[in-house]
This record gives sequence, C-alpha cells and structure tokens, in this order.
Amino acid sequence: MCGIVGYTGAQHAAPVLLDGLSKLEYRGYDSAGIAVAQDGAIAISKVTGRIANLQEKTDNGRLVPGTTGIGHTRWATHGAPTDFNAHPHASNDGKFAVVHNGIIENYLELRQELTRKGYRFESETDTETIVHLVEMYYQGDFQRAVMKASARLRGSYALGIICTDEPDRIFVVREASPLIIGLGIGENYFASDVTALVAYTRNAIYLDDGEFAELTPDGVQVFDCTGHPVEKKINRITWDIQAAEKGGYEHFMLKEIMEQPRAVKATIAPRLKNGEVSLDGMDIDLRRVNKILITACGSAYYAGCAGKCTIERLCRIPVQAELASELRYADPLIDDKTLLIVLSQSGETADTIAAMKECQRQGAKALAIVNVVGSTIAKLADYTLYTWAGPEIAVATTKGYTTQLTVLYLFALYGARKLGRIEMEEYARLISALKALPKQMQQVLDMNPAIEKLAKKYHKHPSMFFIGRNTDYAVALEGALKMKEISYIHAESYAAGELKHGTIALIHEGQPVIALCCNEAVTEKTMSNIIEVKARGAEVLAIAFRGNAKIVSLADDMIYIPKSDPLFCAAVEIVPLQKLAYYVAKENGCDIDKPKNLAKSVTVE
Ligand code: F6R
Repeated sequence: MCGIVGYTGAQHAAPVLLDGLSKLEYRGYDSAGIAVAQDGAIAISKVTGRIANLQEKTDNGRLVPGTTGIGHTRWATHGAPTDFNAHPHASNDGKFAVVHNGIIENYLELRQELTRKGYRFESETDTETIVHLVEMYYQGDFQRAVMKASARLRGSYALGIICTDEPDRIFVVREASPLIIGLGIGENYFASDVTALVAYTRNAIYLDDGEFAELTPDGVQVFDCTGHPVEKKINRITWDIQAAEKGGYEHFMLKEIMEQPRAVKATIAPRLKNGEVSLDGMDIDLRRVNKILITACGSAYYAGCAGKCTIERLCRIPVQAELASELRYADPLIDDKTLLIVLSQSGETADTIAAMKECQRQGAKALAIVNVVGSTIAKLADYTLYTWAGPEIAVATTKGYTTQLTVLYLFALYGARKLGRIEMEEYARLISALKALPKQMQQVLDMNPAIEKLAKKYHKHPSMFFIGRNTDYAVALEGALKMKEISYIHAESYAAGELKHGTIALIHEGQPVIALCCNEAVTEKTMSNIIEVKARGAEVLAIAFRGNAKIVSLADDMIYIPKSDPLFCAAVEIVPLQKLAYYVAKENGCDIDKPKNLAKSVTVE
C-alpha cells in the first residue's frame, strides 16, 4: 500500500524518483507526486491517477530541477484520491515536504491540536499532520524536529522528509512499514521495496522499527529512536533488473504465471539433498508440537488451506488454518507447543504481522514462509523459509501462491520424516512427485489456445461458481479469488458437498460452474455434485487429470491436467484457473496488473 522513494546525489532527482515510482506503482496507483528541493524552495508536482500522468505533467521530470527529492504513489486511506490528498505534503511555511506509507492512528487528535495552534490543513490525509508537526518542532535543527515529530505519532509509518534549509539531506523514519536504503557512490536512495532500487544499486540497508536515518550524497547514518547511531549490516540485493521488468509479456501477471515452473523449481532444488528434504535453520523439535496453526491473508491463506490437508495427512499433527485478520482478535488457544506457520509473499501484510505477534506473545514459535528477503515477517519469525519466486509485481499473486504451496509441501515431507510417520519407499515416491511439479505446470502452461478459447466462451457471464472437495476446494477458493479480483466477475467458491444446503438455489440455466476434480479420493463425490448442478441447467467446466474418462460425459467443457500426486496437485491445478482468469479479464478489457480498488502489500489493517 503506497510506495515511497527518495534520492540525494549529483543527478537530476526527478527522473530517478519517477523511475522508482513506476516500479512501485503496484503498491498503489490512484495518485502520485514528487517534491524536489532547489534554490531554497521545494517544488511539488502531484497528479490524480497513474505515474504516467506525473511523467507527462513534469515532462519526465525535466520540469522539476534539483538533486534531492522524495516521491509517492498512493493507495487512498484517509481522503479521496485527489491532487490535494496526493503526497508529498508541505508545511505551511514551505520549508518541509513529507511522503508517508502507513497510517497515523492518532491523526485526529494531532490535527485538532495543530489546528488550534494555527496550522492550516490543505488535505484530508493523516499524513499532513506529520509535516506540520515537523514545522512546529523545528528550531533550526532538522534532525531534532524529525525525532520530536516522530515521537508524537502512533500507527505505522515509513517517512521521507526534506527541508529547504538543508537541500541535500533527507530523513527517513520507519515504524511498522517497510523502508530500505540503497547505497550508491556519491548518491543514496530510499524506497518501500528493492524493486525501485535494483536499477541503481545492489547494496541495501533494511531499517528496523523505531529507527531513522539521515541520507546525504556522501553517506547514510542510521539512529535508534533516541538518536544514538546504530551500526547496520549492508545487504546484497540478489534480484536482477529483468526480474522486475515485463520482459516482452503484455502483463506482469502473464509473465509471473509463466515463471511458475522456474520459481517452483528454484524453491525445491536447494532443499533436496541426497534424496532428503533439508530445511536449513529449522531446529524445531516437532515431537513437542501438538498443533500447527497456519495464518495468512487472501491467497496466502488459501495456500495455507491447501497445505493444511497435505501437512495433516503426512505429519499426522492437527493443523488449523485461520485468516490473520480474524485470528488477531480471536483470543486463540495457543501455547509453547503450538507451531505457527505464517505465509506471506510481501512479508509486510499488517493483519498477518499482528496475528503473528499475538501468537508469539502467547508462546508459539513462528515459522515464516516469505518471498521478500529482509521483510518484517521474515525478521520477526523464529524460523524463515524463503519462497524463491523473485519479485512479484502484478497485484494478483500467482507464483507467490504456488511457491508458498511448494514450501508447505516440503515442510510436510520434512515433518513426516522427522516424526518417523512415513515409510522410506513412500517418502522417496513423494519426493519424485514433488520434483515433477515444475514439468507438470509447464505442460499446463503450454495449453494456451484451449484456455483462451474457454475464456471467450465464459467471459460474458456475470457470475461463476467454483466447486471442489478437500484440496480441490482449497484450489476453488483461490481460483474464484483470481477471477473476482482481475475480471470483476462475481465468483463464489463452494465446498461441493455444501451446495445442496442452500447455494444450489442460485443455479439456473447457463450458470457457469467450474468443478475441480483432481483429488482422486473425492472425485466421485464431486461428480455427483456435477450431476446435481447439471440437472438444474448449469454449464460445467471440469478440471481433471488426463485419463479421467468418466467426467467427459458429465461436463460441457474439460481442462485436463497432467496426473500429479493428489497431495501436491493444487500447485498444478491452480494454473489453468490463473490463466482462465487472466484471459477472461483480458476479454473484458480489465486493467489486469492493477485491478481497481486493490494494491499489493496490504500494510494497513
Ligand atoms: C490476491 C492477493 C492477496 C494476497 C494477500 C496477502 O491475488 O495477492 O490476496 O495474497 O493480500 O499478501 P501477502 O502474501 O503479501 O501477505
């Protein structure tokens, strides 16, 4: 949610800021702005809408001179997406400008206090209180004013602040919102995530909560909240520039769908050693664990629902999957024998972080399965397993989801072996089944024309049902979410056996029902449900393993996928649904990478 960038050095800052913002646009895209310090003043340029509008307004930054600046791309929380509410926000005296990612929870009381003291507000945002606080506390010492203002804030914030009195100095502050500093030679940068930095530097410092830093062209100094200097590790950014580019694809989402075999292989390969699953850094004594609790949001939660089935089956430990936004307030029953598994692509999802902290507070150890190295969740976790998916830019997750599933499968095999609950022969067979996933996914990806043709048939329907049982139901949940979020078609996922308890009332002539029939233990049961909806006029598209001849006679359309082990097949089965959603959205002319109302990395509650 919202992306912030900053630059100080010898280059013309505005083009660097605009380039960085274009890489962060997936974090929010309803308005954008930049502020650049020059000749004792700060020039601010803002627009409603996309970064492209800002590039046009500023002639790609050429109209905004100066070598130190900050930028922002917004996902509106407080106040509508208008030019006024767009960041950066300026102080009344024009000396300071601020960009902010996060939410200031006590902004109303601060706003009242500042209004009483005569500060004039130009926007409805929570952010504007910050810049007025800095002005209020400024008595010639920029750093002190930033510290004093930050101490008044409650909530989550990553801030970038500039001042006309010190035009080549930026202060950045981090509290519960991602902030990374990029180190150059004679120039330095900051951004919400590394995708904005990779084109400029590979050396980065990850700020921790409560820290702030001073950036000048010549150096970076990090401080704790009391102002004491802190020594920070310099991290090497491993993502390459191409990974954050479209690479010839029409959309990031399509590129990321196509990258899945490679990403899943990269996630599995380093963890298979001499025919065994080896999970570095995992010294959990699984014999002490009496419950596994999986928590996450959105698609990551759906990956957790599929993973629950596999872990329970192989490890024979009770597994519960809970939405993080619910779990955080549910007063869950947890103790030090609970293993918490936290799933997150971004590693920054606010609800997931809060649920994780609550469970850790109650004694659970947390294993994080995360894509973004150095993210908040990775830092908070007791154990971290990275999904080596590379940067995911499209708002709708694809390779993030399938690599999360892959790590859950690895964990299930690892746990079963550690607990002695799997025969060696079965273990070896399942490892081969896991290794086969990338090839099977590739085979589905090669089925392009068939899925595009189905999209042309189904794209006009106002609603769709996705049904299945057990792991197929977990895939139905994710398939329906993909369809909803990028094509705006109402899509409902249902446990197939539940239809007749109410929802079947909605089935009518021509109603599309996507039936997932890959989990062989329950396929016959799902087939009975297909017969029930067919009897009421539904148009059924079934997804089944190649060779399942029985379903052909029931379904109107078929997508066959290669036969994979039912414990792992969700990773293959989701691929045609991702592609179906993609092509339906394309048929409907939707903005696939940036669906309306959404943003990647949901850093607000
Ligand atoms: C849907 C989607 C979201 C995320 C959710 C959690 O396509 O991307 O539902 O899965 O916001 O995000 P992370 O995994 O970053 O915690």
